Amino acid sequence: MGEGINDYTKNIVDLRRHMWMAGVEVELRRLIWQIAVVGKYISAKIHEANRKLAGSKNIYGEDQLSLDRATDEIMKNQLQYSGFVREYASEELREITKIGSGKEKYIVTADPLDGSSLVDTNLAIGTIIGIHKESILDTGRNTMVAALYITYGPLITMMYSAGNGAHEFVLNREGEYVMAQDNIKMKEKGSIFSPGGLRRDWVPGHQKFIEHLEKEGYKLRYSGGFVPDINQLLIKRGGIFTYPALQKSQRGKLRLLFELQPMAFIVEQAGGMATNGKEDILSLKVENINDCSPVYIGSRAEVELAKQFLT
Ligand code: AHG
Ligand code: MN
Ligand code: MN
Repeated sequence: MGEGINDYTKNIVDLRRHMWMAGVEVELRRLIWQIAVVGKYISAKIHEANRKLAGSKNIYGEDQLSLDRATDEIMKNQLQYSGFVREYASEELREITKIGSGKEKYIVTADPLDGSSLVDTNLAIGTIIGIHKESILDTGRNTMVAALYITYGPLITMMYSAGNGAHEFVLNREGEYVMAQDNIKMKEKGSIFSPGGLRRDWVPGHQKFIEHLEKEGYKLRYSGGFVPDINQLLIKRGGIFTYPALQKSQRGKLRLLFELQPMAFIVEQAGGMATNGKEDILSLKVENINDCSPVYIGSRAEVELAKQFLT
């Protein structure tokens, strides 16, 4: 067996096997698997869009969809045929869209392409998914049963949680998602910080909090992509990402339904926390699908500290 090639006669823990061993309910694990596969198609689309790096025309031509829209179409179409999804809500659509017969078990939220402004720089970008069982806006409480994100970087990686911890997979050369790290647990306290927004727009409590982290010797790590920035916190086992309330936009920039709640679900499953400065991100009611919120997400010590600075 050559180096780097999996020996499938051995028991390789790929994504399906992991979910099976973890006892994830059959329809949910099929859906998570399907979404991970869509990640491959999205990655191919990103690659195609970036062919301009090799000097040829890319998809940004006049008759072409933007990459955000194109990746959204891919996700929506694939989920439509999955048989498990009755409604689809995405950052790219104004309304929650019915895509099933109504009898399917799940509702999916998507930020199909997070960090699209980074595509031409070749920095890492991602896809963020939330999976809900009940209607998102009517219930008044969070109904998420699973969340995942995919990182398109030097490697394609995927982190999922179905309420059973947070687990990382890497897409190998045979196109399988192979387990990289099982049950990731963040430390109580980390050593990196990712501060979103312009310093001149920060509210005073937030400004003092960041100055405190700087004095304490926290290292600045901000890529401009939410997915790789959160992935970094999980892989390095701690630290904090913030996108605060700004002087002119008290609700910050990042979207509760598509970005913050799925990431909060995963980070909490890894022993971390996510708040808006006062309340847990997962306890916030989403009234409109594009609602935004300030966010403090990461290891517990830093998130608790942020809360003290913000009171
Ligand atoms: P999207 O590309 O889905 O609109 O998300 C954009 C993001 C997110 O990836 C990142 O954390 C944040 O916007 C960065 O914002 P700034 O450019 O203001 O730092
Ligand atoms: Mn986004
Ligand atoms: Mn997006």
